[in-house]
Amino acid sequence: MAMVCLSDFEAYAKKYLPKIAWDFFAAGADDCITRDENILAYKRIRFRPRMLRDVSMMDIRTKLLGTEISFPVGIAPTGFHQLAWPDGEKSTARAAKAMNTCYIASTYSTCTLEEISAAAPGGLRWFQLYIHRNRAVSQQLVQRAEALGFQGLVLTADLPYTGKRRDDVRNGFRLPPHMKLKNLEGAFEVCKMSPLDPSVTWNDIYWLRSLTHLPIIIKGILTKEDAELAVRHGVQGIIVSNHGGRQLDGGPATIDALVEVVEAVQGRVEVYLDGGIRKGSDVLKALALGAKCVFIGRPALWGLAYKGEEGLQDVLRILQDEFRLSMALAGCGSVSEIGQHLVQFSKL
Ligand code: FNR
Repeated sequence: MAMVCLSDFEAYAKKYLPKIAWDFFAAGADDCITRDENILAYKRIRFRPRMLRDVSMMDIRTKLLGTEISFPVGIAPTGFHQLAWPDGEKSTARAAKAMNTCYIASTYSTCTLEEISAAAPGGLRWFQLYIHRNRAVSQQLVQRAEALGFQGLVLTADLPYTGKRRDDVRNGFRLPPHMKLKNLEGAFEVCKMSPLDPSVTWNDIYWLRSLTHLPIIIKGILTKEDAELAVRHGVQGIIVSNHGGRQLDGGPATIDALVEVVEAVQGRVEVYLDGGIRKGSDVLKALALGAKCVFIGRPALWGLAYKGEEGLQDVLRILQDEFRLSMALAGCGSVSEIGQHLVQFSKL
C-alpha cells in the first residue's frame, strides 16, 4: 500500500493495532466533540495565496527557543509508545533526531529517560512533566532530564484528573503486564488514588523554577487570561493544546484558541500549538495565525505502528513535503514570510 498522506497511516494503525491500543490512541473525552473539532476547524480556514514571488529556493527551517529545527513540526508528548512498536520511545527519539526536529518525551513513557537519551544522543528533546502528588518523584524526574541533556521542561496543565474516555472504560484499558511506566517504577505502588496532583496552581511554576535551569513551557493553554498568567509567571513558551480532545469535551479547537493566545502574548514568549495537524497546509494555517511551531500526537503513533522509527520518519517527511509545497503555492519562500495576511480572517 502506497503511504501518501497521514490518513493512510491512520488506516494502517486502525487495521493492524490490537483494538485496545487503537482505542486508547484514538480516544477523546465524552462525545469526542473537541477531538473532532480540532480537525474540522482547519477545514473552515481559507488561504489568501500570493503569486509570482520566486519560490525556487525554499527555506522551511525555524528555531525553537533558539535551537534550529528542520521544519516547524515536532512530536507532542504521548504515553505508552511500546503499545505501537516494541522499541517504543527509543524509536521515536531516533526518528526525531534523523529528521532534526524536537521530541517531547512524556512522563508516561515505556522507556526510561536514560534509554531515550542513549537511543539518539544529541537529539533535541524536551521532557513533559505531570506533577506527582509525591513532589520528590517529580523533582527527581526534572533533575534527571536536565542532567541527561533534555533542553526544555514542558508542564502539562490540563490534566488535574484524566478525562472520561468511554472506549478505555469499556475496554478496561491498562498497560499489558510486560510494559511499564519506566520512569515511575515504584512511585505508583504507594498510591491507591491517581498519582497525579490535582492541587497544582500557578505558584508551582515558581517551585519548578527553583528545581531547574531549563526553560519552562506550559502545555494546555486555551485562553488569553491563562496566556497572560503564563507570561507573568515567567514561562518561556506556551503550547496551545486541549490534549487532543481527551480532557474537557466542549472546549475549543486549538486552531480557534490560538489567535486570542497569540494576541495576549504579544511576542513576549513563543507560542506553539498541537491538536488536529494532519496535513502540511494545517501547519501553514497554524503558523499564519501565529504559532512558531506545531506538534503532532496521534500521527506520530500511527507512524510508529506502521514501521517504528522508519514509519515515523515517513510521517514527518510527508508533512515536511506537504508543508513546503503549501508554502510555495501560497507564495512564501521562507518561514519568516508567513503571516496573518495568508488567511481570510473574515471567515474565521
Ligand atoms: C496524549 N497527550 C499527552 N499529553 C501530555 O502532555 N502527556 C502525555 O503523556 C500525553 N499522552 C497522550 C497519549 C495519547 C494516546 C494521545 C492521543 C495524546 C496529548 C498530546 O500531547 C497532544 O496534546 C495531542 O495528541 C495533540 O493532538 P493530535 O495531534 O493527536 O490531534
